[in-house]
Amino acid sequence: MQVIIRPLQEQDAYTSVQWRNDPEVFKYTGNTYDHEITIESELGWIRKVIANPNDYRCAILVDGVYIGNIYLTDIDGYSAHYHIFIGNKDYWGKGVAKKASQLILDYAFNKLGLKIVKLKVRKENISAVKLYEKLCFKAVEEDGKWIVMEKQNIIDY
Ligand SMILES: CC(C)(COP(=O)(O)OP(=O)(O)OC[C@H]1O[C@@H](n2cnc3c(N)ncnc32)[C@H](O)[C@@H]1OP(=O)(O)O)[C@@H](O)C(=O)NCCC(=O)NCCS
Repeated sequence: MQVIIRPLQEQDAYTSVQWRNDPEVFKYTGNTYDHEITIESELGWIRKVIANPNDYRCAILVDGVYIGNIYLTDIDGYSAHYHIFIGNKDYWGKGVAKKASQLILDYAFNKLGLKIVKLKVRKENISAVKLYEKLCFKAVEEDGKWIVMEKQNIIDY
């Protein structure tokens, strides 16, 4: 199974719009949608985010099949926020998120030279919390239903 990440492209919207309307995928994320996401709004969203120079928005491909999204956002030269979802649920629990995350964290620390990558996760999102622990993120703060986690670029320490 080959996992790669590559920058999002406009035509990815035709696949990702289907995931936006699956409540199970977005159950615990920061974005829960209470209305149907149309192809027009998904296309508009992709055009907007890929034009943002402070974001690195990628597609996850498994053996050439587009199955989810992974991002660094708010990149400021020192830190960034990391986000992930596997939209195609047939690929959950197969190690894909872990491999894709290792690729984007390598990019963050070794290409961009960032010192810290941060994330926010709902406490009850067990699969995500387990994933982040396996990637050596450490909880630094609890905020109601949310845990804030960070991973440092240990090469400097
Ligand atoms: C969270 C999510 C990205 C995990 O993706 P995944 O590809 O299923 O995760 P992986 O298979 O790479 O698992 C990574 C690690 O977490 C652990 N893990 C994953 N799901 C788990 C579960 N339900 N229970 C316990 N451990 C779990 C695995 O054991 C694995 O560790 P290992 O490789 O050492 O065995 C995926 O479920 C998803 O997209 N969920 C919906 C969107 C979402 O909630 N995103 C996160 C928002 S903060």
